[in-house]
Amino acid sequence: MTVPTQNPLSAMRVDYRSGELDVDVLAPTWHEQLTVWLAEAQAAGLPEANAMVLATADLEGHPSSRTVLCKGLDERGVVFYTNYTSAKSHDLRRSRFASVTFPWYGLQRQVHLRGRVEQASAAEADAYWASRPRGSQLGAWASAQSVTVHDRNVLDDALESITRRFADTEAIPRPPHWGGWRLLPDEVEFWQGRTNRMHDRLRFVGNRDDRTWRVVRLAP
Ligand SMILES: Cc1cc2nc3c(=O)[nH]c(=O)nc-3n(C[C@H](O)[C@H](O)[C@H](O)COP(=O)(O)O)c2cc1C
Repeated sequence: MTVPTQNPLSAMRVDYRSGELDVDVLAPTWHEQLTVWLAEAQAAGLPEANAMVLATADLEGHPSSRTVLCKGLDERGVVFYTNYTSAKSHDLRRSRFASVTFPWYGLQRQVHLRGRVEQASAAEADAYWASRPRGSQLGAWASAQSVTVHDRNVLDDALESITRRFADTEAIPRPPHWGGWRLLPDEVEFWQGRTNRMHDRLRFVGNRDDRTWRVVRLAP
């Protein structure tokens, strides 16, 4: 295999100069601020602007992370959809906590949320399921996400068989093993890269007792 010549990793470096973030421009709530930054990520043409890296841990503290798509955002939290029998869902059911990070490198930004998780309601999952393309719906039925399979044929055969099963069904029902998770943050940090690695970090910190939020600045 030929590997193209590149800068050594140690020489890869970008000086961040495209923005700044201060409390006087911050929206009053974390979800309004996230809504603004999501819209700006989309407007900037970033690929998969609603992609976020979800970190979970099992009960021994072994961490895992992977990308999921944010499909809902309101004052309660952020929602993504997945298979309830997947590795991530096993972690979430047991630990009840997670974090997600939106990595918007093109804007020299990231947003990090951490907090409790709960399953989204069946009504929410049904509504989002109905909006998905038929191919994605068939895929959700065909794939036992996170299990080991012998080879690609296993997946292709499963898809073919499920496609036959639903050939005469106009509206494919939502599988019982598929639905949403909502992360209800108690911390949300907005990060904007600045020059000399003196980045801006503003964090909304929630108080679970009186449901108020305060904003703190963190050293980069
Ligand atoms: C851009 C992108 C978006 C993804 N979105 C989702 C998603 O919304 N839901 C999901 O279950 N998996 C999604 N995946 C796949 C996951 O990253 C992961 O491979 C899968 O959920 C299995 O994870 P697990 O075995 O840790 O549970 C996405 C992957 C990428 C690269």
